Amino acid sequence: MTMKFPIPVRLVSFILSLATLTLPSASQAVPTPSVTLAPGVVTSRFHIVERLTVHTSRNTTLVKQKLQQELGNLTQSSMLTAATDSQANYTAAVNRYKGPAGQIWFLNILHGRWFRLWGFDDPAAYVPAEMAQYTFGNPLTLLTIAKYTLNAFLNAPIRMLVYDTADGGTNVMWERPCTQLVLNGIPLSAHSACRALDNTISELVNLIAFG
Ligand SMILES: *[C@@H]1O[C@H](CO)[C@@H](O)[C@H](O)[C@H]1NC(C)=O
Ligand SMILES: *[C@@H]1O[C@H](CO)[C@@H](O)[C@H](O)[C@H]1NC(C)=O
Ligand SMILES: *[C@@H]1O[C@H](CO)[C@@H](O)[C@H](O)[C@H]1NC(C)=O
Repeated sequence: MTMKFPIPVRLVSFILSLATLTLPSASQAVPTPSVTLAPGVVTSRFHIVERLTVHTSRNTTLVKQKLQQELGNLTQSSMLTAATDSQANYTAAVNRYKGPAGQIWFLNILHGRWFRLWGFDDPAAYVPAEMAQYTFGNPLTLLTIAKYTLNAFLNAPIRMLVYDTADGGTNVMWERPCTQLVLNGIPLSAHSACRALDNTISELVNLIAFG
């Protein structure tokens, strides 16, 4: 299977893992919802999500600094909710709160700060004390996809994990929005909207990791 990858070819060598294709195999135990939910009340489906990890020799302090510059200020979602009385007001609010990357920064979770107190089961594994999860998105971009499928809402806004690696560098991990948001059977235009979003995120990663 060939997976399209939106990061420029010159950077491909930096990519640790291009795609994680996890399809349930017959031998694997797949948790079935019917174990805990009465039959007939649940619809389940499996789909492929592409998880991307980019490594840079830049330290995590610098990568985070660059990401935060691109995201602008942290914005409480209630600030957007306050503008939900009209399309015009909402559009204006989104454009007001979005940072240079065109995304609104909603949340920052410093996972490394608490996880370092425990670390991994493998005592030899490097513990990324600087690990942080960023949540950001642009509702108007989401709209271009969500108008075709309700499924787009589950994984919006987008999450990105930034963490320090044993070599002093940084990894950036995220899931390709197209593969999260698009399920089968929706119009092709939704796919092109998604690809635009994929490219936006890849360009952002390029910038913070290498730009
Ligand atoms: C991170 O890298 C930058 C640029 O090389 C350097 O100025 C800074 O001191 C480094 N920060 C840490 C915490 O290592
Ligand atoms: C939305 O726009 C209207 C008309 O311009 C204005 O009166 C109202 O206060 C706005 N609401 C918000 C939350 O900005
Ligand atoms: C971020 O906050 C600062 C200080 O309140 C403000 O001057 C700046 O315009 C804000 N930037 C964005 C993108 O909202």
